[in-house]
Amino acid sequence: MSRPTARLGLAGVTPWGRRAYEYLAFFGLRAHQLPGTVLDCGAGPSSFTAEMTRAGVDVRAVDPCYRLSIPAMRRMLADAEHQIGEALATERDRFVWDFYGDVNGLLAARHQAAELFFRDYPQGRLTGRYLCGELPSLPFATSRFDLAFCSHLLFLYSQELDLEFHLSALSELTRVAAEVRVFPMISLDGTPSPHVEACRQFLERRNVRVAIEAVPFEFQRGADRVFRAWRTADSRQSRRDWAT
Ligand SMILES: C[S@@+](CC[C@H](N)C(=O)[O-])C[C@H]1O[C@@H](n2cnc3c(N)ncnc32)[C@H](O)[C@@H]1O
Repeated sequence: MSRPTARLGLAGVTPWGRRAYEYLAFFGLRAHQLPGTVLDCGAGPSSFTAEMTRAGVDVRAVDPCYRLSIPAMRRMLADAEHQIGEALATERDRFVWDFYGDVNGLLAARHQAAELFFRDYPQGRLTGRYLCGELPSLPFATSRFDLAFCSHLLFLYSQELDLEFHLSALSELTRVAAEVRVFPMISLDGTPSPHVEACRQFLERRNVRVAIEAVPFEFQRGADRVFRAWRTADSRQSRRDWAT
């Protein structure tokens, strides 16, 4: 199985964060539709938890990068911005710019997310809203959440994270949350993730329902659908089989 966090940083999974309005667009939801308890898995420096907590939603964020100090996280973000900014400028045509306008608009959203995150993080870390943890084993009880989001980790890093990792990760997410949404469903190189179909079949064999739905957002060309998986009564009964 791939060891994702061994490559934490630009060489592997890039740690930069998005705003709550971006998450809602990725996942095809409006803020008032969020259920009681929400997990942001692989949250990194996203401001989703900060913004939604302020809006009264009970959110937890989990990410292995929370083991780092704040200065170390800031350094990682600055490195990410440098490299991604350059890549975006040279590969403009691989993206649809309607949502952000241009590279500056995109980077502005990233800066806002980071500042909202860093403002909320010290207190949120103390009170347990931000937890250090990583897939495929999360520090939460079974059925702890109504909904879990996984933004820009699974499927996107299909080359870095193998199928076995994806299956274990989705098993774990559907253990801790009644519904899981993953976005995007394409790999970093812009091709459809090779893991989607095997993940869908794996979950459905375990009585987890899967739907792939259009969302009103497209930045990487072709990344305009969300992967939804939710447990049924049967899947709750057959939970002990999931790890097999
Ligand atoms: C591209 S960032 C996305 C951050 C956030 N979800 C967003 O969309 O703004 C990917 C995040 O996944 C985290 N990550 C890497 N390996 C992970 C794992 N095994 N389990 C959970 N998160 C992981 C990284 O630390 C990083 O913060």
